[in-house]
Amino acid sequence: MDKFVVYQSKLSGAVQVSGSKNAALPVMAATLLTNEDCVIHNVPDLSDIRTMMGILEVLGKKVSFEGNTLIIKDEKSRSCTAPYRLVRTMRASFCCLGPLLAKRKKAKVALPGGCVIGLRPVDLHIKGIKALGAQISVEKGYCLAKANNLKGAHIYLGGPFGSSVLATANVLMAAVFAQGETVIEFAACEPEVEFLARFLKKMGADISGEGSPILKIKGVKQLCGCEFEVIPDRIEAGTYIAASLATKSPLSIEGANPFHLTSVIETAKKMGADISVDKNFSIFVEPEKELSPVNITTLPYPGFPTDLQAQFMACLCLSKGISLITEKIYPDRFMHIAELNRMGAAIQRSGPYAIVEGGKNLYGAEIMASDLRASAALVIAAMAAEGKSEVLRVYHIDRGYEKIENKLKLLGAKIKREKQ
Ligand code: EPZ
Repeated sequence: MDKFVVYQSKLSGAVQVSGSKNAALPVMAATLLTNEDCVIHNVPDLSDIRTMMGILEVLGKKVSFEGNTLIIKDEKSRSCTAPYRLVRTMRASFCCLGPLLAKRKKAKVALPGGCVIGLRPVDLHIKGIKALGAQISVEKGYCLAKANNLKGAHIYLGGPFGSSVLATANVLMAAVFAQGETVIEFAACEPEVEFLARFLKKMGADISGEGSPILKIKGVKQLCGCEFEVIPDRIEAGTYIAASLATKSPLSIEGANPFHLTSVIETAKKMGADISVDKNFSIFVEPEKELSPVNITTLPYPGFPTDLQAQFMACLCLSKGISLITEKIYPDRFMHIAELNRMGAAIQRSGPYAIVEGGKNLYGAEIMASDLRASAALVIAAMAAEGKSEVLRVYHIDRGYEKIENKLKLLGAKIKREKQ
């Protein structure tokens, strides 16, 4: 296991944003819908991507990955089982269920189980796929689905916390061959779902409404291979915006799509950053000396993303005043509070609310990363804190941030990876 040793740092310069993990994973699953070759560019080299490669290989694909390009070809094996040993490490693998069922008529995918950011049920995935006519049962920790002919249906996919990103992806992929028309109401509008729809259309699917809450899918007979480029990672870009704010360092964030970051840029501006975007879409962040407190509510896209809540909480610890953070997607996604408080922050939690009393000095400490985004928040806090910090269990960060310590070092951060 590795840890990061981090000292208080000032950053400057430009950072290049990688391809989006959460866009790449579902399109990797989508390649199960064709026997032809698929080439996917701008795929970040992350442990989650490697896990999905392993799952595709178990399911009979041959995958090569070089220079951020994935080439996925068909092999003879036609296994329909995504085993627990792989699924448990990454919930996104559950979205192999839809494409496996659509293409191979049956699927056996391990139920992903619990997660440190809170309860993460898959009822909406199952409801949507059932509505297409599949027989689904849950046995010994696996979801078993079969259907000879899926049929188009009108499906409402809203859940207690709004839309679901991966349930929309799963049902969308299950519906591409379903006879007639499928309408998904309350579909997730996240750019990653829109990207998946565009990828499927390039493969020959008949989809309209992508990027909106109503998706319409007309069943087609087959899909072909395709070549596509993954969109930039908006969460990685937002994480570097937070790093700029917390360390009070001007940064240029390159290769991101600012249109995917409106809520984040608005929030950073309210906190006192001067943000501009040039014609090449580089985002220039110039933080004020003193950050202002803001209230943040996480919401489905285009609202403020839950995947940036922890990183912005780290920044708000340094602002002058009190901020209220309301977590509306994962009400228990607050494991980072205790660690930030160990660094001198004053954050109180009450249910889905966190009250951040800013203006305290953060000091270096040994801190433990609990999940991917929380670990990014701790690295940000460590760069802003006086003295030396050790961020333990950074394997979480390796799931979702390509070459993070190299990128931060290039910006001038004092960070190094050591064995824990
Ligand atoms: C995706 O997870 C992302 N993962 C998450 O990013 C992200 O936090 C989340 O969307 C929300 O934006 C990937 O894209 C691989 P949801 P997903 O279903 O799709 C509830 C990261 O750090 N729900 O949109 O699994 C659920 O509990 C990760 O990169 C149900 O009730 O999230 C939550 O409250 C972490 N029933 C809400 O919906 C279901 O069947 C939204 O979750 C499914 C979800």
